[in-house]
Amino acid sequence: MDKFLIRGGKPLNGTVEISGAKNSALPCLAATLLTAETVTLHNVPYVKDLITQRRLLEDLGATVLTPELHTQKVSAANIEIFEAPYELVKTMRASVLALGPLLGRFGQAKVSLPGGCAIGTRPIDLHLKAFEQLGAIVSLEAGNVVARAPKGRLIGAETFFEKVSVTGTENVMMAAVLAKGKTTIHNAAREPEIEDLAELLNKMGAEITGAGTSKIEIEGVESLGEAEHTIIPDRIETATFIVAAAITGGELTIENCQPKHLTAVIEKLRETNVEIIETDESTLLVRCPGKNLRSKDVTTEPHPAFPTDMQAQYMTLMTQAEGASTIVETIFENRFMHASELVRLGADIQISGNTAVVRGKSNLMGAPVQASDLRASASLVLAALAAEGETLIDRVYHIDRGYERIVRKLGKLGASIERITDNMSNGAEQTTS
Ligand code: UD1
Repeated sequence: MDKFLIRGGKPLNGTVEISGAKNSALPCLAATLLTAETVTLHNVPYVKDLITQRRLLEDLGATVLTPELHTQKVSAANIEIFEAPYELVKTMRASVLALGPLLGRFGQAKVSLPGGCAIGTRPIDLHLKAFEQLGAIVSLEAGNVVARAPKGRLIGAETFFEKVSVTGTENVMMAAVLAKGKTTIHNAAREPEIEDLAELLNKMGAEITGAGTSKIEIEGVESLGEAEHTIIPDRIETATFIVAAAITGGELTIENCQPKHLTAVIEKLRETNVEIIETDESTLLVRCPGKNLRSKDVTTEPHPAFPTDMQAQYMTLMTQAEGASTIVETIFENRFMHASELVRLGADIQISGNTAVVRGKSNLMGAPVQASDLRASASLVLAALAAEGETLIDRVYHIDRGYERIVRKLGKLGASIERITDNMSNGAEQTTS
């Protein structure tokens, strides 16, 4: 398994370009299953999860061309299989995003039930309930979710999410675009990725209004056609680089981002004393002179509030702030696994249920640590950049799922970071420092 060796204590300086949003590219690629015509997506990040999603499309019978590294042209004209197998779903839970489009276009879908994962049980009951409201018959057969639309087509309906679900909202949106009649999604997720998906679907000929609000209305259409779309920038990668600048006392220009998708994070980080200037609508200048960080409490909540996907990175930052901060995680159970690794590096963190209390400022010292999930690995990289001495991070395949060429990007900014690859010929990016 690949590892990162990081020698901390160097301020990051320079310019970094943000990649496309993983969490938008995943549903947008799934949406290509809704038409027999070609859909072209630009700014698709080159990360492991997208490679897995591409494999899923190909396994179903789609043709995926990559004329350029970040462009994917998908033709789902010859779909013969309607099933996402366990091998793929177990490595990437977002494979469940195939359910909605397959059910919507072909009236049938089978997806292996995602098991428990590192950050909690993560059920898909709300997705399934909404499909049933659209007339689907859903059953569980040998660990698979099997869904069918009687007479081959779903029927538009009022659907209500008891709990806000991002992929749930996306799945139902994709199922409903080809349903007969009108669907309303109440208590829909409002993440920018939902808006991006709706924009793509509308370009394909769907009739969706209200995406980005908690009430989405969808007039079903008979068929969808070709489209070309550019994926929005990754707001979590952007915010991770903001923290990287702050925690190392450096100065970064962050290009190709969308600060308007990060209002809650930017506000919170400004409260902690990080200087963040919006140079223009897609560029940020970040600096943290003297590293005099203030402790501030935070609670994760659905968008537009502070995202759970930034909780781990924020916790690392708070280890470097003066005083105590309380971090409450309301979205996922079991999402504090990075805390014990941060403690190994010298942090003072106490966990009780869904609340973490971080007492700073701690002198972090390099040590061997282990990544447990995607955002946890980002938090460990940040801690290692701020720590004295060498940190060896194991299981970095987690970070490869969602951060494009992180070693190269950080190395260019002055970080001392190398990937230690078991088999160098398989390394997605070679040693950089
Ligand atoms: C998406 C993001 C993930 C992010 C999360 C929350 C993608 C590919 N992933 O995950 O990065 O951390 O949103 O912003 O976009 N729930 C149920 N039943 C369901 C569905 C969800 O109980 O059927 C619960 C979950 O366990 C969790 C909460 O609802 O407690 C929110 O989960 P959800 O928004 O669905 O997360 P994902 O879409 O899986």
